[in-house]
Amino acid sequence: MLLLGSGELGKEFAIAMARLGQEVVAVDSYAGAPAMQVTPCSEVIDMLDGDALDALVDKHQPDLIVPEIEAIRTERFYDYESRGIQVVPSAKAANFTMNRKAIRDLAAVELGLRTAPYRYATSYEELVRGAEEVGIPCVVKPLMSSSGKGQSTVRTQEDLQKAWDSAITKGRGDYAEVIIEGFVRFETEITLLTVTQKNGPTLFCPPIGHVQERGDYQESWQPCAISPEELAEAQRMAGAVTEALGGAGIWGVEFFLAEDRVVFSELSPRPHDTGMVTLAGTQNLSEFELHARAVLGLPIPSVELLRAGASAVVLADLESAERPGLEGVEAAVSEPLVDVRLFGKPVARVNRRMAVVVASGPVEEGAEPLRERAKAAAAKIRVTRPAMSS
Ligand SMILES: Nc1ncnc2c1ncn2[C@@H]1O[C@H](COP(=O)(O)OP(=O)(O)OP(=O)(O)O)[C@@H](O)[C@H]1O
Ligand SMILES: [Mg+2]
Repeated sequence: MLLLGSGELGKEFAIAMARLGQEVVAVDSYAGAPAMQVTPCSEVIDMLDGDALDALVDKHQPDLIVPEIEAIRTERFYDYESRGIQVVPSAKAANFTMNRKAIRDLAAVELGLRTAPYRYATSYEELVRGAEEVGIPCVVKPLMSSSGKGQSTVRTQEDLQKAWDSAITKGRGDYAEVIIEGFVRFETEITLLTVTQKNGPTLFCPPIGHVQERGDYQESWQPCAISPEELAEAQRMAGAVTEALGGAGIWGVEFFLAEDRVVFSELSPRPHDTGMVTLAGTQNLSEFELHARAVLGLPIPSVELLRAGASAVVLADLESAERPGLEGVEAAVSEPLVDVRLFGKPVARVNRRMAVVVASGPVEEGAEPLRERAKAAAAKIRVTRPAMSS
């Protein structure tokens, strides 16, 4: 299997695949990426370079290509798929989800799912007009970006120029277009992990609540308390959009819950960062194990909630070009039912995710008390400069 993108999600997925006897080649743009630490073979290439991608596929002759990030020359996936290589979950899914326009038009126009009002803009003038049409406040995002990069919330007319500049400079360089979305005043946002199978029904994991800052996830918990009606509506939408994109695997389908409305936001055709909460043993299979089974066509009879859980991220607050240290891990895991994943990233940047803490407890007590537990443990861990850690 060629794993395109070797971050912390790829690392857990590589472990799940290795447990099922699969040989994983971990690929990323830099050496020492998290998944490379657990695979026998790795490659460093620019995944936006289509020719480099072709050369890699020719060299390794994979049965499976699994994208773990969006910044890949995914147009080439159609060709690989037509040559009989299984692209996970499908070439169409990888292509559509890396471009907010493709996925939004599919969801809102073709499938008629409820989304925030939106417009597109290829110039500052179009942005001003679009913002007027959807109304301020609104959220401006590059069409191609992830983890909140280049994204900003516009609260007054004066914010528009900054929002445009940021979206254009921080989005993927080959694409100067933005989406303007009306701001959804949501009470909760959730990820509905959805599993599509080769020979079996689509399954839904218990909903995961999460909190984001700067467009990046800070904490998540499972199960998130939502009404049966909201859950049914979210499942219906997740079923429709994953079916339209096709293929087998796990998907992270994101929704806003506002008053009595469920609003579709976006989806990832792969394990979701907020789904790291499943590493706390909340389910019979973690999101990575579910992805592995679905991709390999192994049956998944059911997804069952075994424990309540919460996760909280550890972010770097400094820059370090050398492998940084981590302080306070002992204190963090000295609490019962708290566990940690240290990603081993070779370089730190401000707000880069370096580790995650997970906590679990009995289902009857719910996830709410675990949120504080996970956050308190994560707060004990600090990223340090190499010299300080010795
Ligand atoms: N229209 C909106 N109204 C209110 N909040 C929003 C809106 N769009 C995005 N957000 C907030 O910003 C977060 C990130 O947005 P989104 O998921 O679209 O970005 P992303 O870059 O694809 O993030 P990721 O790749 O990490 O999922 C959302 O989870 C939500 O908290
Ligand atoms: Mg998102």
